[in-house]
Amino acid sequence: MTQAQAKHLKDYQAPAYTISHIDLNFDLKGNETTVVATSKVQRVGQHTENLILVGEQINLQSVLINGDKAQYQEANNELVIQTNLDDFELTLVTLQDPEANSSLEGLYMSDGAYCTQCEAEGFRRITYFLDRPDVLAIYTVRVEADKTAFPFLLSNGNLVEKGETTAGRHYVRWEDPFPKPSYLFALVAGDFDLLEDKFVTRSGREVKLQVFVDKGNLHKANHAMVSLQKSMAWDENRFDLEYDLDIYMIVAVDFFNMGAMENKGLNVFNTKYVLADTASATDEDYHGIESVVGHEYFHNWTGNRVTCRDWFQLSLKEGLTVFRDQEFSSDLGSRAVNRIQAIRVMKNQQFAEDAGPMSHPIRPESVIEMNNFYTVTVYNKGAEVIRMMHTILGEKNFQLGMKCYFERHDGQAVTCDDFVNAMESASGIDLGLFRNWYSQAGTPVVSVTDSFDADKKQYQLTVKQSVQSQGEKGKLLHIPFSVELLDAEGQSINNQVLAVKQTEQTFTFDGIESMPVPSLLQDFSAPVRLDYEFNVDQLVHLTRFATSEVARWEASVGLFSQAVWQNVESLSAKESMHLDPRVIEAVRGVILDENIDKALVAEILAFPTAAALIEQVDTVNLDALQAAREFVVDELAEACLDELVTRYRSLITEDNPAARAFKNICLVLLSRVSSEYEQLVTEQYKAAANMTDSLAALKAAVSGQLSCKDALMQDFEQKWLSTPLVMDKWFSLQASQNTPEVLEVIKSLTKHESFSFNNPNRVRSLIGFFVAANTYQFHEANGSGYEYLTDILIKLNELNPQTAARMITPLIQFSKFDLERQQKMKQCLLRLKGLPNLSKDLFEKVEKALA
Ligand code: TRP
Ligand code: ZN
Repeated sequence: MTQAQAKHLKDYQAPAYTISHIDLNFDLKGNETTVVATSKVQRVGQHTENLILVGEQINLQSVLINGDKAQYQEANNELVIQTNLDDFELTLVTLQDPEANSSLEGLYMSDGAYCTQCEAEGFRRITYFLDRPDVLAIYTVRVEADKTAFPFLLSNGNLVEKGETTAGRHYVRWEDPFPKPSYLFALVAGDFDLLEDKFVTRSGREVKLQVFVDKGNLHKANHAMVSLQKSMAWDENRFDLEYDLDIYMIVAVDFFNMGAMENKGLNVFNTKYVLADTASATDEDYHGIESVVGHEYFHNWTGNRVTCRDWFQLSLKEGLTVFRDQEFSSDLGSRAVNRIQAIRVMKNQQFAEDAGPMSHPIRPESVIEMNNFYTVTVYNKGAEVIRMMHTILGEKNFQLGMKCYFERHDGQAVTCDDFVNAMESASGIDLGLFRNWYSQAGTPVVSVTDSFDADKKQYQLTVKQSVQSQGEKGKLLHIPFSVELLDAEGQSINNQVLAVKQTEQTFTFDGIESMPVPSLLQDFSAPVRLDYEFNVDQLVHLTRFATSEVARWEASVGLFSQAVWQNVESLSAKESMHLDPRVIEAVRGVILDENIDKALVAEILAFPTAAALIEQVDTVNLDALQAAREFVVDELAEACLDELVTRYRSLITEDNPAARAFKNICLVLLSRVSSEYEQLVTEQYKAAANMTDSLAALKAAVSGQLSCKDALMQDFEQKWLSTPLVMDKWFSLQASQNTPEVLEVIKSLTKHESFSFNNPNRVRSLIGFFVAANTYQFHEANGSGYEYLTDILIKLNELNPQTAARMITPLIQFSKFDLERQQKMKQCLLRLKGLPNLSKDLFEKVEKALA
């Protein structure tokens, strides 16, 4: 076993040395690539400690101090240098082979282009360094490479010099005037198509905008460019933040572990979040691009100008930046639909993480592999915590808090506490109790009971809060709890955010004429589980009358879920299944409602997935759940058949994302009910003018296992064989099939000409999709899904540990399943644990799961 030492937040110590400048010289030459790093190092304070730099897989050629050979030791991923100088120049020469680097961290090759990924701790794979975010240096970078193969040589900041060297080689020099931590360093060298445009900031500065894409993809770069321009304008208007360099570059690469990376002035993106045209990308892809382009751009202030003191503070930049990108999407598109999607991530993924072995507070206290903490907790729950502050303070005070934050901390590496302090000082609102959200793991439960007193015309809500983490009682929290009261006619009679700050609190509403229907935790005003026993009539009332569209969706989820769980009970009591006509009528009402946003209807008709339903309970009988869920969907689709067909036909003529979403969910539902509608599917596939519609037809064919399925899948495959991002959609459809053969299909597809284990997008679309989204088949009782995932993880453990560790999630979240399945999952984890070369990434998760 490698050294898998946990680091703790409580052990944080400021660095003993700092580095004010670093000059990097990259001589890119395949497996003879050299990097010369010249750093200006300063001792911090008075001490006699050695300078300790960190590095991983470094092939060190020489070490000089002020030009002379230095005394050093190299061991355990550290370079220890003894010196009594307080201020000196350190020169390190390293030799690299980027082509052999399959981990996609540090300097690697993506499809013939050199590129880097340094967050979180990848810079240490380039050179020994003080690779920690509280060391901020000014970077100057020289890059030299073959001119024909690598016409573009890019790094952070401004291009200050370029020229030719010997034998067909050229070089450039870049200077980034803003001091930055090493994780924001980037270099790209390759041949690309370039889309150029500009943005004039509100103070009149002209910024050059560049989007670099693989040759032949220029026509797919436009949406990313427009999204960037919209992001820049939005950040000025909503957050009063202006861009600070004269150039902003985005490079799209095929081989990338995550979505994108906010390197200063030189974002590196997964092609998935750049390339789009209507023929090859869905409406959902377009939305994803806009939101990720926004996210990375917004990091320029929340992440780059003000960065994290240490990696435990990751949510300082990520929670805040996710909040900002969510607001961006909501201001530009449908606020309700964006909110629904964010709530789904919280309830389906984050709650599961927080109930499993990887549960951690948004500010983790102990970390073995930092890459394992780029989680839905740090990102999405982190964004919910920021959103709660926004709810408590209001937009005006929140923006004053942001202003204060930048006035105090621009150019610094700071903590989550610093952020909350700024919000508190600027608003004058006490956030004392609120701070516990940063240190408390687990999902709080808010239990509500209510009563009505007709004589006093009083309605009372009694609200209790509790949170458990690892079996222990957690801290008291400040929970903004948004409530609307509706009268019997559906009129809103009260709408406010209650401040829940005690273990138990009663809120009294006066002047209430009759028992109201409460809409509770509106818009998911806090990341908690709500425990209140709604009856069917209340939920129906809310789906019709709640002021908030999100609350209407929530109520529909409640209706559907109750119907499923009642049928699960019926099954275990050996009774026949049944669906309450009131649920059918509510759904019919939504389908027929001409006034409701079509995108919202589509969200409602998507119905909770099996994974979402499992999240609602402590233990699950998967076979009963499957039978009950599929029964309820079929009953609803059959009962609303005429309405679905009618709406489908009328929506065909509408050409916008919301109408397409509604139309396509109708098609999927119809294709479940009867092969009678197969013709609609094939017609739509043939007539489709865009990827949204053709993919939806294909999805209907696959999920309904229609007889046209194979022919359509083949047609699609032939058409898109040389477009990897579209083949990813095809791989996911293959992996989505709820049939016993699906695992064999997946196994054979790993040999498909478009598939490669080296490319994370391919691995995620085929195998990642199967394990995360094909709940019934992945959890097949014989354990074959678990065994297969384990085989794949063993392979990826060496190839790309970061991607391996992200895919293990469904295997460690086993606590809700029956003992036989749990046993089988644990056996797989033991198999992983026994690997002689288990990566830190997998080790951390396997250990926790087996503890
Ligand atoms: N900071 C990036 C973001 O929020 C995330 C990221 C990109 C990342 N690449 C990574 C995190 C590699 C860890 C490792 O968008
Ligand atoms: Zn981010």
